[in-house]
Amino acid sequence: MQECKTMYSHENGIRGPPPARYGGRHTVTLIPGDGIGPELANHVRELFWFCCVPVDFELVNVDSSLTAEDDINNAIMSIRRNGVALKGNLETNHNLPPSYKSRNNLLRTSLDLYANVMHCQSLPGVKTRHRNIDIMIIRENTEGEYSSLEHESVPGVVECLKIITRVNSLRIADFAFQTARQNGRRRITAVHKANIMKLGDGLFLECCKEVASGYPDIAFDTLIVDNATMQLVSRPQQFDMMLMPNLYGNVVSNVCAGLVGGPGLVPGANHGEHYALFEAGTRNTGRSIANRNSANPTAMLLASCLLLDHLKLPAYAHMIRRATLSTVTETRMHTADLGGQASTSDVIKSIRNAIQSTGPLTQSI
Ligand code: NAI
Repeated sequence: MQECKTMYSHENGIRGPPPARYGGRHTVTLIPGDGIGPELANHVRELFWFCCVPVDFELVNVDSSLTAEDDINNAIMSIRRNGVALKGNLETNHNLPPSYKSRNNLLRTSLDLYANVMHCQSLPGVKTRHRNIDIMIIRENTEGEYSSLEHESVPGVVECLKIITRVNSLRIADFAFQTARQNGRRRITAVHKANIMKLGDGLFLECCKEVASGYPDIAFDTLIVDNATMQLVSRPQQFDMMLMPNLYGNVVSNVCAGLVGGPGLVPGANHGEHYALFEAGTRNTGRSIANRNSANPTAMLLASCLLLDHLKLPAYAHMIRRATLSTVTETRMHTADLGGQASTSDVIKSIRNAIQSTGPLTQSI
């Protein structure tokens, strides 16, 4: 059986998990989201129950079709209370007025979840054009192009503001270098477009260089975003960790997810000083395949393992991660996104069998 690699950790870091309450159990906010989110959330809940994971979910439904912000405010309040959340993605209707803010974005900015982390790794048994990819992506998650500051001051002329601040650029760079150190990463590549956005991306780059000078054990280089994406699709093995402002981070993380097999495989984490939120890395809703029992549950299950790592429940995380990764290596357990014919419930059943066959937990928890 393929031994899973720990995705990443902050063992000695500044961000600890919320303390377990009520007899050693943790309460975690669960936002099922839209599309395939609710069915995948149910699979996580059932698998946690099956594995006797000491987590109670507080279910918070957010209706993304409503313009009122009550639902999302409830979700934010719940995460503030519990400290940690698992989430399916929420739709953002492009045709709503600019005053309607993406619910996903509101969560990240209100809770100051400033660091998005995605670990894209080639998986045995998943056929892709390139092999041996192992890239960690650190993306600034709260500013840049996602400021929601747009206006049409003159008809036909829209100004859309990209905000880059020194304080947020320094903290994401510091997060990246700390994470690199804790996870044995040797090189960080900052991705930018400072040749055109000399002030904005120039400031981001300057902050990355400043922080890099305090980490002489980690190599640092820079690449313009267009070259970086070209290099990624031609020789992705050259990258170790990539560090980016918000929009490049979004695009590059989706490219990397595609390189290792697609949106159904890669989990994502959002960290701030006080809260953490886990979700599928590419943040798709998968509306067109909702309720068909055909979605690939791997990304969401691996996101739930990151959540368990964060809660310092490594034995449970290991048990579910190992079973999930061993299942995805089997071609007959591939869902349609990987070119297979297995259903979501076939995959879940196989994961349960893998867990059962390894017997009860042997490590102390
Ligand atoms: P989508 O939901 O259509 O997904 C893209 C493709 O990936 C589809 O073919 C889908 O079936 C497939 N897919 C996704 N997850 C899968 C899984 N687990 N198993 C198998 N196939 C899977 O993507 P789109 O159109 O980019 O986004 C949909 C909605 O999500 C939009 O409302 C958009 O606004 C929102 N969104 C929000 C983001 C955020 O940062 N919060 C980022 C991206 C999209």
